[in-house]
Amino acid sequence: MILNTELEYKGNLFPSKIVSYKKDVDTLYFTSENDVVLQVTVERDSVLRFRFTTTSIFENDFSYAISQYASKGFNHLEVTEDDENYIITTSKLICHISKLDMRTSIFDAKDKTLISQDELGFHWEESYEYGGNIVKMSKSTLDGESYYGLGDKPVHNNLKGKRFENWVTDSYAFGRDTDPIYKTIPFYIGLHHKKAYGIFFDNTFRSFFDFCHERRNIASFWAQGGEMNYYFIYGPQMSDVVSNYTDLTGKPQDLPPLWALGYHQCKWSYYPESKVKEVAKTFRDLKIPCDAIYLDIDYMEGFRCFTWNKEHFPNPKKMVKELADDGFKTIAIIDPGIKIDKDYSVYQEGLEKDYFCKRADGPYMKGKVWPGECYFPDFTNPEVREWWADLFKELIEDIGVKGVWNDMNEPAVMDVPGKTFPNDVRHNYDGNNCSHRKAHNIYGMQMARATYHGLKKFSYPKRPFVITRAAYSGTQRYSSTWTGDNVATWEHLSIANAQAQRMCLSGFSFVGSDIGGFAEQPNGELYTRWIQLGIFHPFCRTHSSGDHGDQEPYAFDSNVTNIVRKFIEIRYQLLPYLYTAFWRYAKEGIPILKSLVLFDQEDTHSHYRNDEFVFGEKILVCPILEPNAKGRRMYFPTGNWYSFWNTEIVKGGEEKWVDADIDSLPIYIKEGAIIPKYPIQQYVGEKVIDELKLDVYFKLGKEKSQVYEDAHDGYDYKKGRYSLRNFSLVGKKDSLTIQQYKSGKFITEYNTFEINLHGVPFKITKIMVDNEAFDMNKLNIKENKFIVSKEFTDIKIMS
Ligand code: GLC
Repeated sequence: MILNTELEYKGNLFPSKIVSYKKDVDTLYFTSENDVVLQVTVERDSVLRFRFTTTSIFENDFSYAISQYASKGFNHLEVTEDDENYIITTSKLICHISKLDMRTSIFDAKDKTLISQDELGFHWEESYEYGGNIVKMSKSTLDGESYYGLGDKPVHNNLKGKRFENWVTDSYAFGRDTDPIYKTIPFYIGLHHKKAYGIFFDNTFRSFFDFCHERRNIASFWAQGGEMNYYFIYGPQMSDVVSNYTDLTGKPQDLPPLWALGYHQCKWSYYPESKVKEVAKTFRDLKIPCDAIYLDIDYMEGFRCFTWNKEHFPNPKKMVKELADDGFKTIAIIDPGIKIDKDYSVYQEGLEKDYFCKRADGPYMKGKVWPGECYFPDFTNPEVREWWADLFKELIEDIGVKGVWNDMNEPAVMDVPGKTFPNDVRHNYDGNNCSHRKAHNIYGMQMARATYHGLKKFSYPKRPFVITRAAYSGTQRYSSTWTGDNVATWEHLSIANAQAQRMCLSGFSFVGSDIGGFAEQPNGELYTRWIQLGIFHPFCRTHSSGDHGDQEPYAFDSNVTNIVRKFIEIRYQLLPYLYTAFWRYAKEGIPILKSLVLFDQEDTHSHYRNDEFVFGEKILVCPILEPNAKGRRMYFPTGNWYSFWNTEIVKGGEEKWVDADIDSLPIYIKEGAIIPKYPIQQYVGEKVIDELKLDVYFKLGKEKSQVYEDAHDGYDYKKGRYSLRNFSLVGKKDSLTIQQYKSGKFITEYNTFEINLHGVPFKITKIMVDNEAFDMNKLNIKENKFIVSKEFTDIKIMS
């Protein structure tokens, strides 16, 4: 008899032939001879979920990523079989499951073309070390297929040819191609033959994606534990893939307060109080709009969360109030590490209540962060999250802090290999006890979630604002995010552009970078170019580490200050436009920034473009990413585009040189667009908005635009107190018609629109407003401007 005491490596294992099939309403089960079960759930006509077990039993079905509000339901489901396959048909998809080996092929139900096909399909390796399996999937790449998505990866938009790892990592001064970094968003989009689909691999273990890097026509993904559990999301429009993925993993639960879309100023660190006030005052003196100012770790007493350094901040409540009186919202950082200090109440309470993470054999998870040795709350325990939320009472309700910044929540641990917890650390995982291998990627997300609930509770009746560094799919429900510790280099400016676009493609639109760079110091030119990009990112904040000099808009020379001011003012003017884009994102999951491939997937030129993007629905932006530039070449998508600066018209569908000296940036408006603008304000709410400007860009043909408004804070909008204006524009060679349809119960403060017409190709001789002749003496002929009641339903402008 041979005794085999050595590790038995069996290599890759595969499902064998299907021996039974069962259907339970929307879920189908296919069982193989070797006890593999494939569960296919029809979530929607275009969304199928695939889940495999190799032991015939599934583990508890639990996910932090999937939103409880995800839409479910479909119009059609039919399951048939032929000699080779089981065939699942919905109104959008046809899925074949091979009886021989469980491999799947998915076709478009309309034209029957192949969308995605397993290569080896599901296979696995047994993990002797940890138990369970290393679960794997491989799919064939179809002709001309490109790949996009995966969250914050600092790489070219198109992921083809690359391999990636997902393991949330503190990555100070990361660079192009550094992998992994702060976020894990295991969702990618495939695009071929002008059709797009998405795959969301909802597995929180360390996972990997390979897009034709290892083998030429193969895309594969695998994880070091857990289940092969993925969602297939069909478009064919990429924007539908993204919005369905966002529906599945959740949209922001609340709109941000409008001020959160203003400009934010941050530094590590502004202290003492006099410094904070000096910065705030300088903004006001120089008339640079700003809504938020940040307190980094030095506001605390020895970096103990929920404390104040009384020497530097003797009366935080008074300071926060004075800042608020001047329009500044104070945002404070809160990290996960709780200092080991027997006299510190948060530590005492955490210990008493047994809320800190522990190692496998019982000791606490001890790690060094800013305060020195710390213990870490187990945010995967619902009771801990509630406790954590309640810790914000004083900071928010009493002191009046308006937003919280969660950092180091990868979780980051200093001076140890791997820069985080060891694998054996135990987590509650909402009752599904597990090790850090499984909980690592969602730790930061659960911290942001607990923080969000605290802010929501104590900011009431106002809306919460949270920003987090670490994230997993679904974190967009609770928080905004930034791209972490970047560097003040030109390369990082382009990385910031790629990351913000990619995050938006990955369902997480409320994103921005540290403007100017966190590490090292930008010169005035780099800072200016970064602001010019940053004002088009949904989250717009300058941040820098303290030891590299000053990085406020006024810290360079007066020329920089003036240009930066001009661009921040543009952001403030565009707030109603950005807010409308945010509302569309929160309502329909439509990304706020659209990479060109998402904007126009039909145009193959867009498949490899990186720099240009569409901000909202109608504004094309192309950052300047090199020093000493007087302009650059950029690609214009099909259609006509108006220069934002001089309304010159550019015909799209090709690459062109565009001028952009240091005080300018290539910004173009889609023809037919109606762009709403507020007056320049130093902060949101400074002025009563007594008129809404509408910039109308003529088009021969039709175009629709929207303007969403509400009270800009609070929750009344959820009860119907919002104002949604739907505009439709029809341009002909001798007339221009604008129609408005308004819904919602909110009454805006202003009563009139100032209509600014651009590009009207004829001389205006007559204007009819709701069938009545407009007094032509009131038309500013030179600028083609006039004022009308906000209640109009139909304006006809004629030659
Ligand atoms: C981390 C953050 C950075 C912050 C610093 C100090 O490096 O990423 O934004 O300023 O910690 O809190």
